[in-house]
Amino acid sequence: MKKITACLFDLDGVLVDTAKYHFLAWKELADELGIEFTETHNELLKGVSRMDSLDIILNLGKLDLPQEKKNELAEKKNRVYLEYILKMGEDEILPGVKDFLTDLRNRNIGVALGSASKNAQLILERLNIEQLFDAIIDGTKVSKAKPDPEVFLKGAEALDVKPDECIVFEDAIAGLEAALNAGMRCVGVGDPETLHRANLVIPGFAGFHPADLLQRI
Ligand code: BG6
Ligand code: MG
Repeated sequence: MKKITACLFDLDGVLVDTAKYHFLAWKELADELGIEFTETHNELLKGVSRMDSLDIILNLGKLDLPQEKKNELAEKKNRVYLEYILKMGEDEILPGVKDFLTDLRNRNIGVALGSASKNAQLILERLNIEQLFDAIIDGTKVSKAKPDPEVFLKGAEALDVKPDECIVFEDAIAGLEAALNAGMRCVGVGDPETLHRANLVIPGFAGFHPADLLQRI
């Protein structure tokens, strides 16, 4: 069993269920554009950057728009998304997450965020868990989207730990691949079938403790 010196966490879908807010905001935009956009389509956007998400939606509607217009639409979606985020309270942190992060810190295991979101800092503040992270790498600090390993390698660098001593927690396939591409082990959070390439899959953090992680991975 290899040593674990740090844990790196994706944000959306791992620490908090923001997918429902992304969906509502994208849905509003898609409706305006006359594009059919369902919760099933929304699955395609998990872990995908804001602009790539917009491209997926425009593709669904077979719409080809100039970059300037796309920037405008992405900004518009984000304004709607932020209205939901600003109403979000501390109680929206997913069950067991806060205890899990606190327990890691008590064991001197490094804790970092590795998220594609440019709103990550704000979301951590809303959940009041910013202080539980030793490093925060988000969409404002990376240039290559998952499955590129950049976000997690930067996390390891910020914590000054070796990638093969890091465990990544991810709910999306692109994120899981980014972790494996970084030479890290990955705990999938969600559906075992979708996340079958992960080293371990858990349904969530409720009832799951760092001691279980050390034994099972
Ligand atoms: C990811 C989400 O974490 O962040 C995606 O899974 C989202 O759905 C992406 O598109 C970018 O987020 P933001 O907040 O920068 O628009
Ligand atoms: Mg995610």
